[in-house]
Parts: sequence; structure tokens; C-alpha cells
Amino acid sequence: MDTRIAEPLMKLTWTDPVTGARGYLVVHSLVSGVATGGTRMRAGCTVDEVADLARGMANKTAAFNLPVGGAKGGIDFDPKDPRATGVLTRFCEFLRPWLDSSWVTAEDLGVPQHLIDEVFATLGLEQSYHAAIRRSADPARTLRRVQAGLNAPVPGGQLLGDVIGGYGVAQACLGAANTWGWAVPETTVAIQGIGTMGGGAAWYLHEAGMKVVAVADAAGTLYDPEGLDIPALLELRDRFGEVDRGRLPEGVQSLPREAVVAAEADIFVPAAISYALRVDNENLVKAKVVVEAANAATTPEAEAALSARGVAVIPDFIANAGAAAWAWWLLLGEVGADPADSFLRLRTEMQAKVALVLAEWHLDRVPPRVTALRQAEATREARNAEASSPTGVPALMIP
Ligand SMILES: NC(=O)c1ccc[n+]([C@@H]2O[C@H](COP(=O)([O-])OP(=O)(O)OC[C@H]3O[C@@H](n4cnc5c(N)ncnc54)[C@H](O)[C@@H]3O)[C@@H](O)[C@H]2O)c1
Repeated sequence: MDTRIAEPLMKLTWTDPVTGARGYLVVHSLVSGVATGGTRMRAGCTVDEVADLARGMANKTAAFNLPVGGAKGGIDFDPKDPRATGVLTRFCEFLRPWLDSSWVTAEDLGVPQHLIDEVFATLGLEQSYHAAIRRSADPARTLRRVQAGLNAPVPGGQLLGDVIGGYGVAQACLGAANTWGWAVPETTVAIQGIGTMGGGAAWYLHEAGMKVVAVADAAGTLYDPEGLDIPALLELRDRFGEVDRGRLPEGVQSLPREAVVAAEADIFVPAAISYALRVDNENLVKAKVVVEAANAATTPEAEAALSARGVAVIPDFIANAGAAAWAWWLLLGEVGADPADSFLRLRTEMQAKVALVLAEWHLDRVPPRVTALRQAEATREARNAEASSPTGVPALMIP
């Protein structure tokens, strides 16, 4: 099928019989009968937001040449509410036919991977990649391989599955710095959000020697022009990605939440909410490049204004695609449980993509999103040509 259509294949709205919360599943496209995309939970989540995110997932799978379509789940509910796990469980239960056959989901804003896996286990579905795993030749073996990869320990006491998305964002930042010829220790970065994506990106940028001068969580911005002690701050996070303000290291300034947008830094990484950069605040950005870790972090109008004043925006479907791409490499058996293999593959692919889109930017000021969309389109056309060939699209093969 032609995945270029702007309208999604399906939008579904669910109402929780217990709390009245609304939940949405949007399937933008199916490839070989499968679509992939995480599930988010936040108060105020709308079906339009979920549809935007599902379209973004379809771009991500095309940009990274993954053999699946794009989808997204979203629930309009506060993830800190004690009833949140119950809401997520009933949402998944209702969507079981999709989760069983066609929709591979994972963590997203407000829903960590371990929580969605717990909910799947409660429902007897084992793991959130269930729809793909059950298609494999030996589902029990594939499940073991996937779990070994997700749970592989990495330095810093974290698990590979929890940090890989942030690692990819860090590689996008390092790739960008490289195209400008900036020395890493002299390059500064500000990060909005210090949860799964922002925290992972901060860790790997700090480890690479880049100066992380500002981070923000839902409670405010933490700033140190000399560079924050990221490992110490990450230790102070609660399970919602908020830093304990009572135990801040010396020299860290506490600023209002929005201050991170205006921080003096070469790179700005929005890694929290969608629509973080809008026409009413894009003029505050001092960075030369925005690396979108959050999905739909920049509105189209804000991106046009940023481009016009010479600020490049690396789009979400490139910068944050590490988690989704890696999950499929793992499912397809292209990487295993050794984190070094996964890091090498993601570093290579991410830096190559960033170099390509920024080459067009440096040469002719072509916005990185335009170049990346062209690339994704070329992949879709190749897929469509394959689909209309006498042999058709090959079935999804998971070893
Ligand atoms: N987790 C993934 O695998 C993944 C993959 C791709 C994209 N994303 C996208 O990255 C973004 C963040 O997801 P996550 O999984 O890291 O979420 P998370 O829930 O783990 O962390 C969110 C962080 O943002 C902070 N935050 C919330 N509202 C804020 C605000 N208004 N200002 C500043 N900080 C705020 C929170 O305090 C927390 O530190 C989302 O847009 C999500 O769609 C996530």
C-alpha cells in the first residue's frame, strides 16, 4: 500500500469505564500488516496529537528503512495518578486484538518500558513487542533474545533498553557538532526534560565530554554555565524524571521552567513535551541547532521562523528514532545483547543521517526536515515498487 497518504488508516477513541479517561490508537500505515509506535500518557493528550505522532512514526520507519508502518497510542490521564496503571491496563485490554496481531508498542512520555511490560504480562501477552514476537519462527526464543537485549546492563547502572533512545539523541548532537567543526569539550548543550530520552542524552553527551549547561524537568530549569554534574543530577531523579531540589550539587542555579529554551548553548534538545517550540517562544532560542528528542517538539510555524534566522532543526523522526530502530534491529536479530554492537550500529547510522541532512543545510539552507522527508519518501517509493512487483512485499521475517 501507498504510505504517502497524509490521513491515517485508522483512528480509534476509547473511554475508560472506570475513570472516564479517553485513550486513542492511531494507525497511520501498515507494512506487512504491522505498525509500530509507543504509548504515551499525559493529562490533556488529544487524538490530533496522537495522529501527528503516528505520522511521525511512519516517517521514522521509512527513514531508518524498518519493514513496518507507523502508529501511536495516547491516553489523556495524569501518569502520577494512583489509578494510572489500571487505566493503562484497561486500555491495553481493550486494544488486545491490535496488540495481538498488528500493533507493536513500547514506552513513551509518562509510560516507562517496565510498566508497559508489566501490563502486558498481566494480560498474558508477555512483552510489548508481542505482535512481532508471535510472528517469529520460534516465539519463545525470540522473546528471550529481545529480553536479553532490553535488559543488558550498561555503565551507569541502567539497562540498554532504557538508554538507547537517549544514546541516539546524543549521537545526533555529536554528529551536528562535527558538521560545524566544533570541538566537543567547547560545545554546550541545553536539554528540556531529563527522563528516559533527556536523561539518556545528557548522560552520553556528558560522557563524550560535551558541556551540558542546562537541563529542565517539570519543576524548573537547572543551570551551570561551567557544565552540570550530570551523573550526580541523574542520581537525584524520581521515577517521573524529576530532580530532588533539596540535594542539588553546589553551584547549580534554579531557574524557571521555560528558561532552558533561552539558555546560552550551541545545541538545544527539547526532550519533554510536544510543541515545546512555538511562534510565541522560538525567538528565545539562542542555539544554532535544535535536536528534536521529543516527538513533534517544534510547530511547523516555529520551525519556519527558526530556519529563517539560521537555526537548523534536526527533526524528531531522525533524532529520536534510535529507540524504535534499535527495537526492530533487536527483533530482526541484527543486534544482540552486547551493548557495544548496538551502540556502534546506532552511532554509525545516526551520525551518517545527520551529516547528510546538515550537508544540505550548510550548502543551500535546505531545512533538515525537507532532506529527511525526501529520503523517507525514496524508501517508501522503493517499498511501493516492491509491493507492485509480481512477488509483492515479502512477509515480515523475524528469526
Ligand atoms: N521513551 C522513548 O523511548 C521515546 C522514544 C522516542 C521519542 N520519545 C519522546 O521523547 C519525549 C520524552 O519522553 P520520555 O520517555 O523521555 O518521557 P519521560 O516521562 O521519561 O520524561 C519526561 C521528562 O520531561 C520533564 N518534563 C515534563 N514536562 C515538562 C515541561 N513542561 N518542561 C520541562 N520538562 C518537562 C519531566 O519532568 C521528565 O524529566 C516525548 O515527546 C516522547 O514522545 C520517547
